[in-house]
Amino acid sequence: MRNETTVVILAAGQGTRMKSKMAKVLHRAGGKPLVRHAIDAALRITSASRIFVVVGHQAEQVQLATQDAGVNYIVQTEQLGTGHAVMCGEDRLAGLSGKLMIFYGDCPLIRPETLERLAAWQDLECAGGALVTTDLEDPTGYGRIIRDGSGGVSAIVEQKAGTPQQLAVKEINAGVYCFDAPAFWRHVHEIRPDNPAREYYLTDMIAILLRAGHKIAAMKIADPNELLGINNRLELSIADGVLRERKVRELMLAGVTIERPETVCIDAAVQIGQDTVIGPFVQITGNTVIGEDCRIGASSVLQNAKLGNGVQVFPFTSIEDSSLADGAHAGPYARLRMGAQLDANAHVGNFVELKKTKLGAGSKSMHLAYLGDSTIGSKVNVGAGTITCNYDGKRKSPTVIGDGAFVGSNSTLVAPLNVGGGSYVAAGSVITDDVPEHVLALGRARQVVKPGWKPKE
Ligand code: UD1
Ligand code: CA
Repeated sequence: MRNETTVVILAAGQGTRMKSKMAKVLHRAGGKPLVRHAIDAALRITSASRIFVVVGHQAEQVQLATQDAGVNYIVQTEQLGTGHAVMCGEDRLAGLSGKLMIFYGDCPLIRPETLERLAAWQDLECAGGALVTTDLEDPTGYGRIIRDGSGGVSAIVEQKAGTPQQLAVKEINAGVYCFDAPAFWRHVHEIRPDNPAREYYLTDMIAILLRAGHKIAAMKIADPNELLGINNRLELSIADGVLRERKVRELMLAGVTIERPETVCIDAAVQIGQDTVIGPFVQITGNTVIGEDCRIGASSVLQNAKLGNGVQVFPFTSIEDSSLADGAHAGPYARLRMGAQLDANAHVGNFVELKKTKLGAGSKSMHLAYLGDSTIGSKVNVGAGTITCNYDGKRKSPTVIGDGAFVGSNSTLVAPLNVGGGSYVAAGSVITDDVPEHVLALGRARQVVKPGWKPKE
């Protein structure tokens, strides 16, 4: 077993600059809350039992949004600064030896590889602390890296505390640290809130450890993209863009064709099989899983959808919490929601809506229909304009249609209703009573033809 690293993720702040009712770390980029990105990166380098998230502002919601990760939480009731946030965990953390890695819940682009490199760098340099830095064209807002005459890091100076000369420095503190845990805990109480913001700055640990005779190792990286801290909605959208780009890249390299990758929006957890083709402006979110050899037409929106292999989704189709088995077709302009289910080779066409409805294998509803709370067997044909009347103003009622039934166009099926297998419902019928198997049911007035009739003068 590796010498385990303890990770502390700071996520207690409100994030005033977001101008939001919601805590900053709960805002989403790439389909996940910001703090979840930090946790997922941490999970790649250590076990959940060694990860501690410091929560404070909207602590309950932050815990709720991340609890499936199985990590630990530390509560910081008052947000007195990043150094104070870590100190809040002292009683649980100070006994853990090895490395203490700290980073912020508002940095969703950080890669696990970078965290591992930082830990290795700290080892190699036998440093009391190691940190990630980079050069930024516009370093405004970040802590600046101050170096001494021999090029070593001597301190980090925050935006609010820096002299004009210090603020001119373009090398910034990314906010990713790896400390030797015993050294950190021995000196953490030397942090003082002696700065214009009256906060306990974690960044002061650099000068403190140097003073105590420890070595500080700075790992400068070339790609500043990865270190973006999200403080406002503009930065949120930049991070979202980077994460979307990473996702489509990963999918394309794994064998998925994406026709206009810059136009699609695919969440991090989405899985897509080989040789599936994604058209332009498609949105695929949540825990959607798509099989192989599928086609998702332009501007379709899929959320928590499960698609088998060889499924065709034609343009402008919306699929939410629903499943389509192998060879099923949907759209263009179809809507499947609330547990709709297309069995193998079932087809729904334009302007067909399915809600809590199962359409059996090989069944078809090709045009203009509403099928709600229905269980439809295999090889059924549902004619254009068919409506299941599932709601009487108070209750929802089910419709059951047996295998091989044929429902004529513009039929109104008033639920609760059973249409037996192999039966025919005549076009234009209003069906209010159950239809047995293998019959023809008509529910409409017979056509009357009046010979020689003409309008009155
Ligand atoms: C911080 C660093 C800065 C660095 C930048 C990188 C400090 C003092 N400054 O500045 O050097 O360049 O990140 O992005 O650390 N938080 C708490 N409790 C608190 C205060 C903050 O948990 O009392 C959390 C916040 O929720 C946030 C993170 O710590 O996720 C960072 O806080 P933030 O206020 O955004 O720090 P910056 O000003 O960006
Ligand atoms: Ca920040």
